[in-house]
Amino acid sequence: MKAAVDPDRCQGHARCWEICPGVFSLDEEGHGFVAVPDIEPGLEAHVKEAANNCPERAIVLT
Ligand code: F3S
Repeated sequence: MKAAVDPDRCQGHARCWEICPGVFSLDEEGHGFVAVPDIEPGLEAHVKEAANNCPERAIVLT
């Protein structure tokens, strides 16, 4: 699985980072980005939870 944050949609709610700080980080403006794009199998459930909790639906999983 790969994860990405759509910068056009992200509004800086930071739920991704709160739920899964091992994969998501926040930039200096508080917008989320993926620090570890190739998701380990053990983190997939957390990443899916983060995606489901993003109010802007900005997290793209492939
Ligand atoms: Fe942005 Fe959604 Fe995370 S709005 S900071 S990708 S929770």
